[in-house]
Amino acid sequence: MTACDHLLVVEDLTVHLQTEQGPIRPVDAVSFSLETGTTLAIVGESGSGKSMLCRAILGLVTANGNIHFDGRDTGRLSASEMNRIRGRDIGVVLQDPLSSLNPVMTVADQIIEPMRIHLGLSQWEGMSRVLSLLHSVGIPRPEERLTCYPHQLSGGMRQRVAIAIALACEPKLLIADEPTTALDVTIQAEILALLARIQRERNMAIILVSHDLGVVAGFADNVAVMYAGRIVEQASTALLFKEMRMPYTRALFDAIPRIEDPPHRRLPNIPDLPPNFAALPPGCRFAPRCPRAGERCRKEEPPLACDENANYRYACWFPCEQPEARL
Ligand SMILES: Nc1ncnc2c1ncn2[C@@H]1O[C@H](COP(=O)(O)OP(=O)(O)OP(=O)(O)O)[C@@H](O)[C@H]1O
Ligand code: SF4
Ligand SMILES: [Mg+2]
Repeated sequence: MTACDHLLVVEDLTVHLQTEQGPIRPVDAVSFSLETGTTLAIVGESGSGKSMLCRAILGLVTANGNIHFDGRDTGRLSASEMNRIRGRDIGVVLQDPLSSLNPVMTVADQIIEPMRIHLGLSQWEGMSRVLSLLHSVGIPRPEERLTCYPHQLSGGMRQRVAIAIALACEPKLLIADEPTTALDVTIQAEILALLARIQRERNMAIILVSHDLGVVAGFADNVAVMYAGRIVEQASTALLFKEMRMPYTRALFDAIPRIEDPPHRRLPNIPDLPPNFAALPPGCRFAPRCPRAGERCRKEEPPLACDENANYRYACWFPCEQPEARL
């Protein structure tokens, strides 16, 4: 694997934080790569480090390790060069558009702003693009929304505006951190379909963060599963759903919400003990919750090793042995 073959190559990325409980590594030796035009889903339960990983890729938090984006080593870029990459080449959509949208700016001004800053367009030039952008993200009668403020829009419409802002400068990579979690199921499906269409049209790469393995099943080319700051299983989506070697991944699979489920279910069959980053157990970090844990698991940390299939990685001493078709 070389930096030139991929749009994004992340090697050994680690974030060190000082907290009241002591030093923690919410992202710990994470490596992966992403090809142009493809989607990588990053999946894990709450607190596993997904958002922190995104922040580290965006240069919003200091991290050790290497990141190559579009052939450039981002560790060697100045703060202003990194700012340019963030607004222009990498677009970002977050879970709650209200917190990312400016409450006192109109929809049109918020979409024009990145085009003015990063592409040097005038207000007038930007305005002509806003209508087509709003149209492409599925906003009906876009001319009537130009002067709206975020609070005047529904949650689904706000998320479409946030996507329009992220796409304004035609980024090569879109980082979508739980972009549909706050929305109802029908709107979730519409937003994911929208992202998939735009991806095809623009050959854009996407990192899709979700705690729901079900959301990524029909959407992502590859899946990386995070637990306690680490990638613990990674494969193409089809292979991962077929093999699913990690007990943790199986618990995430079993937790995919089904219509008959009550809301806000925890991981079924797994004790609800989210990892404490300041006091991680020796050996496998999942051992205190794992139904398959053995003595070795409590002593030695399993490496993220390649299966006989070089595109399948998992970190487990006693992987689930009998693969079942999961889709
Ligand atoms: N500013 C901070 N200071 C200290 N610890 C933090 C900070 N931000 C995050 N953390 C810790 O880092 C860990 C990873 O957090 P992160 O937000 O990346 O999780 P996540 O996987 O995105 O969770 P969620 O699904 O709830 O969004 C958590 O244990 C969290 O408590
Ligand atoms: S290494 Fe052991 S504790 Fe960790 S996931 Fe595998 S079986 Fe469970
Ligand atoms: Mg998060």
